[in-house]
Amino acid sequence: MKRGSGFKFWVISALAAGMSGGVVAATIDLNGAWQFKKEGEADWREVRVPHDWAIGYDFNPKFDPGSGMLPWQATGEYRRKFTVSEADAKNLATGGEAYLEFDGVMSRPQVSLNGVAVGGSIYGYLGFTIPVGGVLKSGENELSVKADTHRQKTRFYCGGGIYRDVRLRILPKGHVVPGSVAIRTSEVTVESASVAMEWRMDNGELQRRKIKVEKPHFWDVDDPYLYSVEIGGEVYRYGIRTASFTTEDGFHLNGRRLQLKGVCLHSDLGLIGMVANKDALRRQLAIMRDMGVNAVRTSHNCPDPKLLDLCDEMGFVVWDESFDKWDGTAGWTGAENWEEYITGVLKSFVRRDRNHPCVVAWSIGNEIGGQSGRYYTGVSRTSCRKFREAVLSEDDTRPVGIAAWQKETVDAFQDLDLTGWNYARRYMPMKTKYPKIPMVYTESCSSFSDYGYFGNGQPATGRTSYDWDRHRTCGYDYTAASYSDIPDVEFWRMEKDRWMAGEFVWTGIDYLGEPAPWTGKTGKARSSSFGIVDLTGFPKDRFWLYRSYWKKDAETVHLIPHWNWDGRADKVTVMVYTSGDEAELFLNGKSLGKRSKLLDIDYPVDFMKDGVGDYYRICDRYRLTWRDVPFEPGALKAVAYRNGRQIGEDVRETAGKAVSVRCVTDPYSRPEDELFFVRIDAVDEQGRLDPWNESKVLITVEGPAELVGAGNGNPHERTGFASPVQPLFFGRAMAAVRRLGTGEIAVRAKFED
Ligand code: GAL
Repeated sequence: MKRGSGFKFWVISALAAGMSGGVVAATIDLNGAWQFKKEGEADWREVRVPHDWAIGYDFNPKFDPGSGMLPWQATGEYRRKFTVSEADAKNLATGGEAYLEFDGVMSRPQVSLNGVAVGGSIYGYLGFTIPVGGVLKSGENELSVKADTHRQKTRFYCGGGIYRDVRLRILPKGHVVPGSVAIRTSEVTVESASVAMEWRMDNGELQRRKIKVEKPHFWDVDDPYLYSVEIGGEVYRYGIRTASFTTEDGFHLNGRRLQLKGVCLHSDLGLIGMVANKDALRRQLAIMRDMGVNAVRTSHNCPDPKLLDLCDEMGFVVWDESFDKWDGTAGWTGAENWEEYITGVLKSFVRRDRNHPCVVAWSIGNEIGGQSGRYYTGVSRTSCRKFREAVLSEDDTRPVGIAAWQKETVDAFQDLDLTGWNYARRYMPMKTKYPKIPMVYTESCSSFSDYGYFGNGQPATGRTSYDWDRHRTCGYDYTAASYSDIPDVEFWRMEKDRWMAGEFVWTGIDYLGEPAPWTGKTGKARSSSFGIVDLTGFPKDRFWLYRSYWKKDAETVHLIPHWNWDGRADKVTVMVYTSGDEAELFLNGKSLGKRSKLLDIDYPVDFMKDGVGDYYRICDRYRLTWRDVPFEPGALKAVAYRNGRQIGEDVRETAGKAVSVRCVTDPYSRPEDELFFVRIDAVDEQGRLDPWNESKVLITVEGPAELVGAGNGNPHERTGFASPVQPLFFGRAMAAVRRLGTGEIAVRAKFED
C-alpha cells in the first residue's frame, strides 16, 4: 500500500488490500420496502424497490405490442419513511450535506422530502443526485417519488417506476462533491503509468493529484485487475490500460489486437423486467462469457451503473451508449431546448461512467437519421461536433462515436473519432470516404430463432422464410431480418475485414418488445427472437455456434436438433457446432460419415440481397451438416476431432413422454447469489428432456425464499411472469427466486392438471 502525501485521506492500494479510514460519512440504503400506488389504484401497497410497476402482468396486446404488451405507460407514486440518526444530523448542522442518489427512475420523477419538492429528472435511463441537506431532519423523514411514463417514447420495453437503486448519503463539512471525481490514466507503459485525479470539494474548490504507478498491473479482458483509491473517505476503483481503435488493425487493448466478440444488451432482465439486480446482471454476463464474449454494447441507453461495475470486475470492454434517438426515446418532450437537453444528458452520463476501465468508447446515439418528423432529431455535422465536444468536456481519454446505418449520413460523422455501423457491411461508404476514422460493427446478425423449434426437421430455405403458420423461427439459425445476416456470414465478414474492430451481435439475449418478425399485422409477440439466449436466460442452440467459434479456451461439441421426430418427420437435417475441425455422426451406433469444416471456401463479403440457396454455402466453414438423415428413434451421437484428436461428443436420445418435472439450478447463478435462477425441464422416466412438451407446471418455493418471476422463452407467451403456473416451451421454463434469509430452500415444480 502506498500512501500519498499532501491530502489527508487518500490511499492507493490494490483492491484486495485494506482501506484507510476517512471522514465520517453515512450511507442509508433506501432500497427495500416502499409503499406504492399506481394510476387507477385506490390503495397503497407494499413493494420492494428496485421496482418495475409493469412487470408480472399477463401480456396483453391492448398494451403497446411494440414495447412488450405490458402496462408500463402510467403514473405511479412511491413513499417511504426512514430515520436519520442524531450523529448524522449533526454532520448536517455543522456544514455537511446530504445527497439523495437515484440510479434510475422511469421516468420524469418528481421527488419530495418531508413534503418539500426537492428535484427530479427527465431521462429515465440516467440516475440523478439531489442535495437535500436543507430539508432532511434528525429522526423520521418521509420521502416520496412520483413518476410518469406517459411521455416516454420507446422502441423496446422500458418498464416504470423506481427500477434502480436508491440511497441517501450524509457527508460532513469538507467532503468531495459526489460525482465530481475524475481519474485519468496516461503515459501508460509497462514501466509506469500516470494517474491523474481531480475532484471538487464542497466549498467549490477544484483539487488535483497526480501519482505514478510503477510496473502497473494492466486491466485486461482476461485479467481485469483493479486498483482503488480513497478520496475524501470514498473508495473509487480504476484500471490501468491502453485502448485504441485503429483504422488498419481494429481494436488494440494494452498494445495487442483484440477482436471484439461483442453483444448488444438491453436494459431489461427478462423475468424480473427492468428491476436492476446485480446477481441477474452478473448471470447475464456469465452466460455471455461462457460463449466467448469479450465486449458489450449498452444498446441503446445508459446502463445500470452495476453493469459497468461488473464489466470492470469480469473483464468486458464496453461501447457505452447514451441514447437510441435524440427524440422522445431520449426523454425529450419538445419542451426543452433540444441541443441543451442532449448536451446536458451526455455530460452527466460521461461524468457518471468515466472512471470505469471497461468503457472504451462513448456512443452519442443509434441510427439517428434525417431531419424530418415531429422533432428535430437529425444528425448533422454540427450536432455531431457539438455532442462530441460535450462528451470530451467531461472525458477526453476515449473516442466519441455513434452507431449508424445510412450512407447519406457519412459526412455528418467526419469530426467523430469513431463510427459504428449496423448490418450488411454498410460501413463501406464511410471507409471509402473517411478512411482515417476507425470503425466498429455496432450491430451484426439480426438473426432469429426460437429455442427448441426445428420446423419439420429442416432448416429454412431462405433468410426470411419464417414459419408464418406456426409463428415460429427455426433453431437451425438460417433466418435473419431481411437487412441482416446469419451468424456465419458475419463471422466471415469479420475475418475478411480485419481493419474493423469486431462485431456486436444483435442481441446477446432476447428482450421485451420489438417482437420482430411478428410485428405489424402479425404483432402478437411480447418479445424479440433476435437473442442468442432466450428471454429467461436459457441458451438457444445458436449459443453453441458462437461458442464453438468464439471461445478459444474450451471445447464445444453440440448437436442439433433433438431426436424426437416420430410421426413428425421422416428425414431430418443434423448439424454439429464444434470447436474441432471435423466430426463423425452415429445413429444407433451406425456411422453416418465424417464431415470436415471447409476452411478454404470462397464467399463474397458484401451483403447478398437474395439470401437463399448459395447464401448458405458459408455455413460449411463454421458448422458441420448432415442433410436428410432418415429418422429412426434411438441415439444420435456426434464425435468431434481436432487434428485427428478426439475432443468430445454430444448425444441426443429419443425421449419418452414426460413423467415428471426436474428443477435444476441454473449453471450461471452462483450459490451465494441472493437472486438465483432455476431451470425447469419436463423429463421422461430416464430423465431425458421431452422436447415437445408444452404442459403447464406449478412452481413452488419452500424455505426462506420467494418466487420473483417465472416464464418461458416463447416470444408469443401471454402468461405473466408473476404467475407460479407456467406453460413449458419445448420442454422448458425458468424461475427466478430470491433468498430471504439463511436456511435450506426447495424449489419444486409439478405438472398442473
Ligand atoms: C437496428 C436497430 C436496433 C434494432 C435492430 C433490429 O436497425 O438499431 O435498435 O431495432 O435494428 O434488427
